[in-house]
Amino acid sequence: MTERALEVEGLTVTFPGSRGLLSRRRPLRAVDDVSFAIDRGETLGLVGESGSGKSSTARGILGLVPVSSGSVRLDGAELTGLSGGDLRRHRRHIQMVFQDPYSSLDPSSPIGESIAEPMVVHERLGRGEAQSRVAELLDRVGLRAEHARRYPYEFSGGQRQRVAIARAIALRPKVVICDEAVSALDVSTQNQVINLLQDLRDEFGIGYLFVAHDLAVVRHISDRVAVMYLGRIVEHGPAERIFGAPRHPYTEALLSASPVPHPARQRERTRIVLPGDLPDPRNPPPGCTFASRCAHVMDVCRVEMPPVTQVDGGGEVRCHLHATPVSVGVPRASTPG
Ligand SMILES: Nc1ncnc2c1ncn2[C@@H]1O[C@H](COP(=O)(O)OP(=O)(O)O)[C@@H](O)[C@H]1O
Ligand code: SF4
Ligand SMILES: [Mg+2]
Repeated sequence: MTERALEVEGLTVTFPGSRGLLSRRRPLRAVDDVSFAIDRGETLGLVGESGSGKSSTARGILGLVPVSSGSVRLDGAELTGLSGGDLRRHRRHIQMVFQDPYSSLDPSSPIGESIAEPMVVHERLGRGEAQSRVAELLDRVGLRAEHARRYPYEFSGGQRQRVAIARAIALRPKVVICDEAVSALDVSTQNQVINLLQDLRDEFGIGYLFVAHDLAVVRHISDRVAVMYLGRIVEHGPAERIFGAPRHPYTEALLSASPVPHPARQRERTRIVLPGDLPDPRNPPPGCTFASRCAHVMDVCRVEMPPVTQVDGGGEVRCHLHATPVSVGVPRASTPG
């Protein structure tokens, strides 16, 4: 039987606008009605180009940015609306690993102290016990006990991420959010760190939200993948289906831009180059937010937000090309070309 670790429903994160002397900045909805669930021992990959709202989703789950609506349940317990000691008690079960390990490692402290800190705070461990737990954790992530006395700058990028992972798993969390945790590493180090994360997932039943801007990076670790564009999930499904038969034109473009392990198949594939940039998130277009860059855009796309449609092979897509034809006000135009 599977056990739900994290449930996110209708999460919306809005950064406030501002009123200057000459201009007024509108509020920015960085995350718009995002829903997903992660079981224990399962990995959900969250992908999308820079600015699509992945980090804001992660930070919204942790209550680090203003959540304007939605619900976040960790192991069945509602997190939104909690504060102080109540929030801290639940927050220990959900940890984060960032691209930049200095976000969690103090550059001026030996790494053993950084790893011990959450255990000292939450479990009130004494010095001796903390030291032996640090030694175990270092061993578990492929480092050595004597590394505890070294400083973050003395490690390579991959080793520093191992240290950050040791700190993240110290309290045996139910969920770990990895936000671009391997994005700065070279491919072979990426693979080693991903293998470590997979081993820890299988050993401790951790549920991962694995965030990356590159689809290739999430390929091997993800059971399911969600694709984000301008604050919304535009496609979601089992990893094999997303990689084998992507439905959303944005997913197709992301996939065409990321290398596949098979050189012959790579040659066969045409790279879809997306024109332009993400639209201004403070002033999103009506209808489908991808319309300004989509090769398949139809008239309906510019006026009506595409509905969520179930996909054969699992998951959902938000695109008029795949919407079940029902008689609605706006006629469906045919695909150009
Ligand atoms: N603290 C903040 N204040 C205002 N806007 C922000 C803040 N953090 C992120 N944003 C904006 O929210 C949008 C989503 O950003 P982010 O969640 O960092 O995307 P990603 O992680 O996918 O690159 C971007 O337009 C970004 O500029
Ligand atoms: S709804 Fe229209 S514009 Fe949006 S992705 Fe689908 S085809 Fe393209
Ligand atoms: Mg980010």
